[in-house]
Amino acid sequence: MRIDLGEVENAVSSLGHKAVVLFPAEGLSAGNITAVVAFGRPDGTGNLEILPEPEPDSAVVTQLLALRRHISYLIPPYMHPTVWVPTDSLPMLASAKVSRLAVKNFVTRELQEDWLNSWRRMLNTIDLENHIIQPEEAMAIELADIVDKLIGTGDGHRRPEGGKPYHDIILSRAGIDSIKTIQLMRLLSERYNITPTVGKILGSEMSIRDLARYVETLQSHPDGREHVTTQAIDLIEEYRGLSTILQDHFTPKECRPSKLPDAISTVLTTGSAGYLGIEILHQLLKRKETSNIITLIRAPSMDKALNKLVSAAECMGWSLTPYLSKIEIWLGDLSEPNLGLSTAHWERLHGNCSSHEVIDAIIHVGAIVDWTKSYHQLKAVNVISTLTLLNASTHSLLRTGLRPRFIQISGGRKPASSFASSSWETEGLQLARALSAPGTLGYTQTKFLSDLLVCKWASLHGGTQDARARVVMPGFIVGGGPNAVANMDDVLWRLVSTNVGLGMYSSEVNNKWVYLASSAVVARKVLHCIFSAPSSACHSTVDERETMAIPVSDGLSETAFWSLISRSGYPLTGTPHDTWLAAVEAAVEAKGVKHPLYPVLHFVKRGVGLGGDLPAGDGDGCEDEEMKAEVERDVVANLAYMRRMGFLPAVATP
Ligand SMILES: NC(=O)c1ccc[n+]([C@@H]2O[C@H](COP(=O)([O-])OP(=O)(O)OC[C@H]3O[C@@H](n4cnc5c(N)ncnc54)[C@H](OP(=O)(O)O)[C@@H]3O)[C@@H](O)[C@H]2O)c1
Repeated sequence: MRIDLGEVENAVSSLGHKAVVLFPAEGLSAGNITAVVAFGRPDGTGNLEILPEPEPDSAVVTQLLALRRHISYLIPPYMHPTVWVPTDSLPMLASAKVSRLAVKNFVTRELQEDWLNSWRRMLNTIDLENHIIQPEEAMAIELADIVDKLIGTGDGHRRPEGGKPYHDIILSRAGIDSIKTIQLMRLLSERYNITPTVGKILGSEMSIRDLARYVETLQSHPDGREHVTTQAIDLIEEYRGLSTILQDHFTPKECRPSKLPDAISTVLTTGSAGYLGIEILHQLLKRKETSNIITLIRAPSMDKALNKLVSAAECMGWSLTPYLSKIEIWLGDLSEPNLGLSTAHWERLHGNCSSHEVIDAIIHVGAIVDWTKSYHQLKAVNVISTLTLLNASTHSLLRTGLRPRFIQISGGRKPASSFASSSWETEGLQLARALSAPGTLGYTQTKFLSDLLVCKWASLHGGTQDARARVVMPGFIVGGGPNAVANMDDVLWRLVSTNVGLGMYSSEVNNKWVYLASSAVVARKVLHCIFSAPSSACHSTVDERETMAIPVSDGLSETAFWSLISRSGYPLTGTPHDTWLAAVEAAVEAKGVKHPLYPVLHFVKRGVGLGGDLPAGDGDGCEDEEMKAEVERDVVANLAYMRRMGFLPAVATP
């Protein structure tokens, strides 16, 4: 995981204590996130001569424990300091800033082992004692009991009469996954007559005690619902911080004219073993001009990485074998520093290689596609990996004078021809404000921020018009061609299966557009962006010279979509939304976890991902009969696949 020490320091200072956060390479706390915090003098200024002794009930300990608790709401656990150095005050410079150098010298050279160890021991003891839920914590005990039944025993978290006390476990780490979260929500609603918010539990670091406080808060509201604003992510702040890092990688040399490579012979892709990535890889492999396709794969060994690609291709009905000479696998992990690459690969990514090895284009497909995870859980893979690839491209440009093309696959929001080259940042910041609202999916937030960074990078590299950095925005991605393979995890097909079972669909869909294209169509669009000359017109009606984001607007009106499903052997009746939703809820209730909509029902109820919730199409492609015919053929082929897999019932006349 990538750790931003500035972010940690902001969190540690957020209660007003002067603090410095370091990651020392030497000294007693080497290799640990170390927080030096002044708890003594109100203004925090002074020197490091007075160090408090660890006395359990002292004011310093109380403040330190409060601070640790507070930051757990602000930053994810992997960013929490593991060494705490409480002090009375911190040394200051004449500029009234903390002298970081003096603090660093103190931490690396002057910290006394005995003193630090006694603080560690005392904090560990307090943690252990605090971890046990006490008998007087009635609500927490009740909830621990519920959670215990839900996850089963076996991890030391046992009923009190079994001899062991309950611990204040973190739900997500104790096996409460998305399905169990929904079960837990239902149990809580029934037992306490409250309406908990799923996002509060899913993708969070909520513990049993936190849950008890949450339930008690909801009980105190007349309608049992949440009215407090949850901690929101400020996407504007996030963007400003990350775009500064992009900018920092530029140097005055950057101003020299750069050019796009004449030929695209070496392409780096991420996410190639995924549903879309494997199709992009297939189309790349078939192109004569690309002689080398580097693909970053997350796997423990080269053999396993190759197997991953081979079986992904086989699943889609083609063989990798004829193309093996063109493929170069790089083992890596998008969530790790330097993308988990070897030094040699990292250097090559930065253009530190011979001219024939320079990477001409990057197609960034890899991402965690998960609606249930929070912004922080997705940030490393969905945002920071983009930043890292863009920075590497900047370095490559500085070394070679060649500007790699960069195509990013967007997601999580309606495709739109957004980010006009003249006003992308204003538009982007407006959207950032809207998407910062609590309740917005972390997936949507991270993918959006990543897109905005690509726009920033393009604008830094001589403007958005010719930089050939583009964000391709697909809607739903389905299987393509007569042998289409449907992604049955997709909410689209979960809804189709639900509606087929009910024989109805929500008729509040009249002017909606279902953005839907096969992976083959999306891949074609991506490759078009990579290989077309900068001035040539895009295949869509949107002029890609004018906008940074290229929407894949293919699809059908939602009415046409459900009518097609009806004509394919699954007769459906348009039904008022409330009646339809009640029927859906009853069906999910009856089948429980086995129902395809079970894990996403709460999103569907909120309108997320429901076809009817998608805003009307912007008209692009609506008149394109050829496109519609292709979409219809693909939908029918996906239905056939799902029938073969038993996901949909057989029909008499398909
Ligand atoms: N599916 C859709 O309907 C849809 C719609 C719009 C946009 N998109 C976008 O299209 C892209 C591809 O989506 P998809 O449906 O093809 O998703 P997918 O099948 O889940 O593929 C995601 C890929 O990203 C890789 N990945 C995830 N975490 C990684 C990590 N830490 N290190 C290295 N690789 C990692 C995965 O590798 P592993 O095999 O190692 O997990 C996988 O190959 C995503 O950017 C998504 O946001 C998808």
